Amino acid sequence: MAFSPDRYLDALTFAAHAHGEQKTPMGLPYLVHVTSVTMEVIAALRTEPGRDEDLAVTCALLHDVAEDTTTTLREIELAFGGRVASGVSALTKNPKLPKPHAMADSLRRILEQPPEIAMVKLADRVTNLAPPPQAWSTEKIATYREEARAILSALGGESPVLAARLQARIDTYPAAPAGARSGKMV
Ligand code: NI
Repeated sequence: MAFSPDRYLDALTFAAHAHGEQKTPMGLPYLVHVTSVTMEVIAALRTEPGRDEDLAVTCALLHDVAEDTTTTLREIELAFGGRVASGVSALTKNPKLPKPHAMADSLRRILEQPPEIAMVKLADRVTNLAPPPQAWSTEKIATYREEARAILSALGGESPVLAARLQARIDTYPAAPAGARSGKMV
């Protein structure tokens, strides 16, 4: 069933209040990231029918709320129900775990959720594999690419369309920030 435009607006407004003045690494309003991820999910839903579109779209709009703002999973549950809150919870890294473990733990919890939640994670990394910010080191860029490979290998089977999008982004991801002079270009 197609997603509900009213539900979309409710979730977008909720995310806008939660993220407030936050910016992307490129200095844009954070909702540019949120709506870009959601757009990737909607595009994939057009060619992968049979999904719970409201679940996929709502979790896409809310995917960074619990991780990056003071809004709680309980508030998400009260506004959008338990399935959405569970999905967002799986997409939220456990801050008590060291970074590499936090990613593996989140991927494991995403796989326990419906495939719509894996679609959001794949779409998130497709969006984030845009040209890296100038301030990023080549090491950070390499780590980010390796993380993307781990996400693709864990979750790619849940959405062939988004898996192909992510593979293409990995293949063209640069080894250094645009304009950077580096001897490590490959
Ligand atoms: Ni995100």
